[in-house]
Parts: sequence; structure tokens; C-alpha cells
Amino acid sequence: MFANGFKGKNVLVGLTGGIAIYKVCELIRKFKNSGANVKVILSKGAEKFVTPLLFASLSGQKAYTEEDFFKPTGEILHIELANFPDVVVIAPATASFIAKLASGQADELLLSTLLATKAPVYIFPAMNTNMWEHPATQRNIEILKTWGYRIYEPASGILACDTTGKGRLPEVEEIFETLQAHFVKKTLLNHKVLITGGPTKEYIDEVRCITNDSSGKMAFLLAKEAYYRGAEVYLIWGGKDLPGVFPRINEFLGIPYPKVFPVSTTKEMLEVAKRIFPKCRLAIFAAAPCDFRPKTAFKGKLKKQEVLTLDLELTEDIAKTLSSQKKPDQITIGFALENPENLEKYALTKKQEKNFDLIVANPISTLSAEISDFIVFTPKDKLYFNQVSKDYLAKVLFDLVGV
Ligand SMILES: Cc1cc2nc3c(=O)[nH]c(=O)nc-3n(C[C@H](O)[C@H](O)[C@H](O)COP(=O)(O)O)c2cc1C
Repeated sequence: MFANGFKGKNVLVGLTGGIAIYKVCELIRKFKNSGANVKVILSKGAEKFVTPLLFASLSGQKAYTEEDFFKPTGEILHIELANFPDVVVIAPATASFIAKLASGQADELLLSTLLATKAPVYIFPAMNTNMWEHPATQRNIEILKTWGYRIYEPASGILACDTTGKGRLPEVEEIFETLQAHFVKKTLLNHKVLITGGPTKEYIDEVRCITNDSSGKMAFLLAKEAYYRGAEVYLIWGGKDLPGVFPRINEFLGIPYPKVFPVSTTKEMLEVAKRIFPKCRLAIFAAAPCDFRPKTAFKGKLKKQEVLTLDLELTEDIAKTLSSQKKPDQITIGFALENPENLEKYALTKKQEKNFDLIVANPISTLSAEISDFIVFTPKDKLYFNQVSKDYLAKVLFDLVGV
């Protein structure tokens, strides 16, 4: 339980000769810092851009080049390297490399290793838009897909050749996350998961509103973890922009990309949640809905002197409303953000009142924090987590409810 996906895993990184090679330095560092055992092979083209010294230093291991391929050392290097990885990452992948692999060529160390390996291979192409769109490249990509290679389509944006279009290597974080997802057990395949996140807003007039400081980060991380576990994710989102991107792993997993439903008020959040909740295996109420709203929302913009007192009423209680519809096979998780003195007491009352299977009690300081203290009440236990990241907690919660 609670394992970091990369720890002890063998990752083989193949570098080929594209300008985006500079981004991969950071990627290798991230793999290494996450506990992976990383080996690097440079293609002939890659050696024209960089030297192996940099990658040996970053990975902490010898970085292999063409010079090593035919060395009379008594070992068969490409077979040793082919047997090493749990996963192979080719980034950036040039048009030339893709063409050679699609035609089964093995005249380089990297290509021979790829033909000999049984490990899953993720390929991140990066090139000029015209090169990407060329029928030869597109045909080669289709061939590789049919052979089970996981091709991560390039991103769109400004390219190194000063043009704009499709062909960029995705950001390092996105590549890293894609591989992170690879090592997550697909415990939620064929299940739907609902997550509410972010603050809601209640309008005083057409300009001003009551809201709160929730960043929605916890909900986003929970949505990501559910997606990595193979779930069909519905994120009902009251915040502004999401605090990150979901990597495009849906094609490899054969699942839909997470659906995000932007909402504004607590009532809107409830209406969307009501539609989605009945079909979900798991629902996580991680939003910070506004508990009060003005009884009257004024038209236009109030002048300073017009209103001095706001008449408020309670908004809908989303989790409580849905708890009455909860079926025996549905699991619900709630969050309680409370003052420290009554944190545990209020969290337990809330857990009972809303029929949650699990509740996370967190202090007010959690609102926009990266790390925090959490107390988790499971059906049987009370668990204390001191100063852990929201990312870590997100993974733990799924394990604790057994999905
Ligand atoms: C400055 C420069 C930048 C290049 N950038 C790319 C690129 O981003 N993508 C690509 O597919 N090819 C690019 N190429 C072409 C490849 O380097 C070339 O096809 C090379 O033979 C690839 O070798 P490899 O596949 O062994 O790495 C570039 C070439 C040069 C000179």
C-alpha cells in the first residue's frame, strides 16, 4: 500500500536527434529522483546534439552510444539493454527514427535494443509540423500503433524552427505523469468516479460574489489518480483554471478523457452531481461549496451606499442530498475543513450525517497549502498523516477504500 510507482523500476530512455532533446535532461532527473533506475541510449543523431557525459551524470549510470554497440567486451549489449527495462521511453523521437523502427531496421544500438525488448515502449515524437504531417510519418506512426507502441501525439505550439503548429515535445511534467500513470494499477477500469472540486460562488449582484480560497488542488489530484487507475472521471469544477493538465493517456488505456463540468454556484454543482452520482462507483466530495448565499441577488452593480447589510440563507448541502440516494455498492468520501479545536469531533459528526465511508479532517491552513496534516477516518480506523503532500494523500485515499 502507498507505494511510489517509480521506486525500484527500471526505465530505459532512448534519445534521438531532435532539438527538444534539451527537455529530456529534466525528465531523467525526475525519474531518478523518484527512485527509478535509469539507463540512457543515445542514437547516432542524438550524439550530434549532446554528449553522453551529461546523461551519465544525470542518470548516475553509463550512457550508451554507437561506440559501445560493437565493442568486443564479451557481452551482447543490445540484448542486455533490451532485458533491463520495465518500460522504455523514446523522447524526443525523430521522424527518421520512427521510419527506421517502422521498417524494422536494427543498424543502431537503440534500434536493435527496441527490436529485442518485450517491455512496453512509449514514443514521444517531436518535429517540424510538415515533417509530422507528411504521409510517410503518418503511415509509420500507424504501423507502430498497430504493433502496440504507445505513441503520444506531439503538442501544438511554437516550434524550434520558429513556426507554429503540431510537433512540440509535450512538457516534461506531462511526459513524467504519463509514465507515472503507467505504473498505477488499473483498479477502477470500467468504473465511473465523481469528484467535486474548487470553491463555488454566490452572487450579491452581477459583479460581486461570496466565495472562498479553495484552490481545488486536492480535487484535481484525486481526479488524476482516479483517471490513472482507469476510471471514467467526472470532475464538477467550481474553480477557475485547473491547476494542471491530465496527460493524454486515455488512448493507451482505452478509457475516456476526464470530463470537466464547470459550475458557478452551489446549486449548479448539486444539479450536475445529481445527474452523475447514480451511475458512479465512487464519489468524492472535495469541493468547498459556499454555504451561504444572499437571499436576493441584485441586478446590475450595487452602488456603495445602496446596501449595508446582506441577508443570507443556507445553500443546498450537496453530499447530504446525495447520501439519501446512496446505493449499497457506492462508496463516498468527504472532507471536513474545521477549526483545530473541534476538528475531529466535527469531522466524525459530518461523516455520520452524510453517510460517508471515509472522511478526511483537515485544518483551515490546508486550503491553499501544498502539504498539510490530515486525519482520515476510515470505517474502522483513525489515521494521522503529518505534513504529507496532497498528491500522496490522493493516492492513499483510493487504497484506503479498496479501489
Ligand atoms: C538543427 C537540427 C534540428 C533537427 N531537429 C529535428 C527534430 O526536431 N525532429 C526530427 O524528427 N528531426 C530533426 N532533425 C533531423 C534529424 O536530426 C535527422 O533526421 C537525424 O538523422 C536523426 O537521427 P536519429 O534518428 O538517429 O536521431 C534535426 C536536424 C538538425 C540539423
